[in-house]
Amino acid sequence: MAQPDNASLRSACEADLAALSDLCFRSKAVWGYDAAFMEACRAELTLAPRDLLESNVQVVESGGRIVGVVQVAVTGRESSLEKLFVAPEALRAGAGRKLFAWAVETARKRGARSLAIESDPGAADFYRRMGARDAGLAPSGSIPGRWLPLLKLDL
Ligand SMILES: CC(C)(COP(=O)(O)OP(=O)(O)OC[C@H]1O[C@@H](n2cnc3c(N)ncnc32)[C@H](O)[C@@H]1OP(=O)(O)O)[C@@H](O)C(=O)NCCC(=O)NCCS
Repeated sequence: MAQPDNASLRSACEADLAALSDLCFRSKAVWGYDAAFMEACRAELTLAPRDLLESNVQVVESGGRIVGVVQVAVTGRESSLEKLFVAPEALRAGAGRKLFAWAVETARKRGARSLAIESDPGAADFYRRMGARDAGLAPSGSIPGRWLPLLKLDL
């Protein structure tokens, strides 16, 4: 069992991208979605080289393995949490909190004053626990007609 509380953060690099996309896919699947739903989400769960240029991507490692990833994008005073995924085998051990704290700090340092989160319904209580407030609904980028909880955190 991984121990993210003893884990270390580092920036993602191009060599990580395939493994990170796989991690995002496996992580999203923990909510029990069927295969067709997961395939429809695949593009949104994939990290590309431009993500490393256009946003900030950080991973958490434990025991020499990547167990989570976060991606945050900053535009002026606004920022958005593009991805936050913890490997199924490392859930509920502090990795999500660690990555979220890093995203908050990074967005704040880069001048953002608020962080927007389009949350999977299963993760919304995690973000509330992290201090985010409900701010309505946002359309899913993967499934037409699906709406997701939108949360915001003042930075
Ligand atoms: C949401 C997610 C990132 C949380 O990561 P995690 O490493 O399991 O969370 P942590 O162990 O750091 O938990 C921090 C706190 O939040 C709580 N928490 C974690 N997941 C929770 C959930 N789904 N609902 C309610 N509370 C949750 C923990 O109990 C802990 O509480 P504490 O303050 O009492 O210690 C993880 O469940 C995940 O990757 N889920 C699948 C993919 C996904 O939906 N990602 C989000 C996309 S928007």
